[in-house]
Amino acid sequence: MANYTSFRLRLLLLVLLFSCHEVQKGCARGSQTVNHEEPDNYVVEMRSLTPASTCKDQAKGRGLTLAHRQGPCSPLAANRRSRDSKITFLRDQVRVCSMNNLGESRPLTAGIYGENAWLPIHGGSPGAGEFVVTIGLGTPKVDLTLIFDTGSDITWTQCQPCPRCYPQQDPLFEPLKSTTSSNPPCSASKCNYSIDYADGSHSDGYYVRDLLTLTPDCKFPDFIFGCGENNSPNFSTTAGVLGLGQGDNTLISQIPSELSQIFCYCIPGSESSNGYLLFGLEALRYCQTDSYTPIISDKKNTSFYFVNLVGIAFGNQKFSLSSESPRPRTIIDSGTTITRLPPRIYSAIRAEFVKYMSKYPVARPLPELLNTCYDLHGQKNVTMPKVVLQFQNTNVSLDPSAVVWRESDAQVCLAFAPNRKGPDLVIIGSVQQQNLNILYNVKENKVEFGKGSCGN
Ligand SMILES: *[C@@H]1O[C@H](CO)[C@@H](O)[C@H](O)[C@H]1NC(C)=O
Ligand SMILES: *[C@@H]1O[C@H](CO)[C@@H](O)[C@H](O)[C@H]1NC(C)=O
Ligand SMILES: *[C@@H]1O[C@H](CO)[C@@H](O)[C@H](O)[C@H]1NC(C)=O
Ligand SMILES: *[C@@H]1O[C@H](CO)[C@@H](O)[C@H](O)[C@H]1NC(C)=O
Ligand SMILES: *[C@@H]1O[C@H](CO)[C@@H](O)[C@H](O)[C@H]1NC(C)=O
Repeated sequence: MANYTSFRLRLLLLVLLFSCHEVQKGCARGSQTVNHEEPDNYVVEMRSLTPASTCKDQAKGRGLTLAHRQGPCSPLAANRRSRDSKITFLRDQVRVCSMNNLGESRPLTAGIYGENAWLPIHGGSPGAGEFVVTIGLGTPKVDLTLIFDTGSDITWTQCQPCPRCYPQQDPLFEPLKSTTSSNPPCSASKCNYSIDYADGSHSDGYYVRDLLTLTPDCKFPDFIFGCGENNSPNFSTTAGVLGLGQGDNTLISQIPSELSQIFCYCIPGSESSNGYLLFGLEALRYCQTDSYTPIISDKKNTSFYFVNLVGIAFGNQKFSLSSESPRPRTIIDSGTTITRLPPRIYSAIRAEFVKYMSKYPVARPLPELLNTCYDLHGQKNVTMPKVVLQFQNTNVSLDPSAVVWRESDAQVCLAFAPNRKGPDLVIIGSVQQQNLNILYNVKENKVEFGKGSCGN
């Protein structure tokens, strides 16, 4: 099969490129001088925080397009309007609550989950994800826009015939009409799947094996995914979920190469820009990174990527997580919007932010999530604290766009939120990941970071 042959060639290239990549990284590291004079603030042009009314597609031609589902770049026409932060924050809270329920291994509300109230639950709340990607399935290829979720472990789409589907924008995938589809090798009892997410949403159906087209150069035959025929209506008008979490059935675990268990993305600094999502060779080629932190393996079988966040530098203050008792665990998650911090650390950061912003008029809070807002109307440049996430093995400087949430020029808010309880999960959300290259090397248990180029 031509696709498969070219894939093998690409693997060979990948091995070669991988070695070069390692060498390049080594050189970069060796020549870096530590700059002790690095300022602890940024001068941010207000203009750079203001989204455009039309889509700026700076990431074009690089892998898959990662689009904000409500921005002018969204492939979901009905959603293409200005962002509604009320809805975003509500979904975000539901996701965070359900992820914390998942973290404590106790039965989730039995009323919702029935007899089988314990795990497996596959991730938090994929419907909360703010970003979508369009992939192709089958032959002829059907383009499907799915929610991009590093916190879910199974990829599924609604399939025809569908007894209980919600309305989606794309045509329903029809396995019987695809000349490349087949039944995956499975025992009779395993051909069906049933995914219960922690927020009460679900998808039930059967597994299908077919050609997955990520980009014209990047195709995977024999990709096994869920064909949903009974799906709760929590996924807006998307065609399903692209699950990039850890687990047996994820896209990355199926890509037939050890080296290809690699993907990288850049989340754009505003909803009017596109980001990118790349796999394997392309991820290594385009996603420059310069440091990494280990992925901490998790005893419970959740699909999340746990990392070791040691502390946070905010302006010229440093806050350590090791003084928290019990020390909360940290995940990096594409589907959570606003980063959640232990209440004590959040308060300290907030106090520091207030000092920086004291010369500006206070603006009303953004319910329910962001309570520290300023009116920056008419300002050209604003000095903001620099934020550095101190992970085990690497310090990651956030993009200036990742410190505040701009609702309007008259309402610019600190883009962090406190957890309800000290031991709740610390979650690095998508706003703080903006404009970074984040490369997941699942095989080697590393998350790598670099400066991204997906724009504001
Ligand atoms: C799979 O689900 C279908 C439809 O719900 C059902 O008819 C079938 O019996 C199930 N198969 C197995 C092996 O459970
Ligand atoms: C998901 O949909 C189900 C069924 O309609 C509903 O009960 C549940 O509240 C929804 N969950 C969210 C987070 O919207
Ligand atoms: C975790 O998953 C593995 C393989 O899927 C399984 O064998 C093991 O029992 C699971 N552990 C728990 C605690 O569920
Ligand atoms: C604002 O910042 C930009 C870029 O850093 C700089 O070129 C410009 O001179 C600044 N303008 C003012 C009024 O400070
Ligand atoms: C990160 O920054 C802290 C504080 O500036 C420093 O103590 C630590 O050594 C740095 N870590 C790495 C891996 O560079």
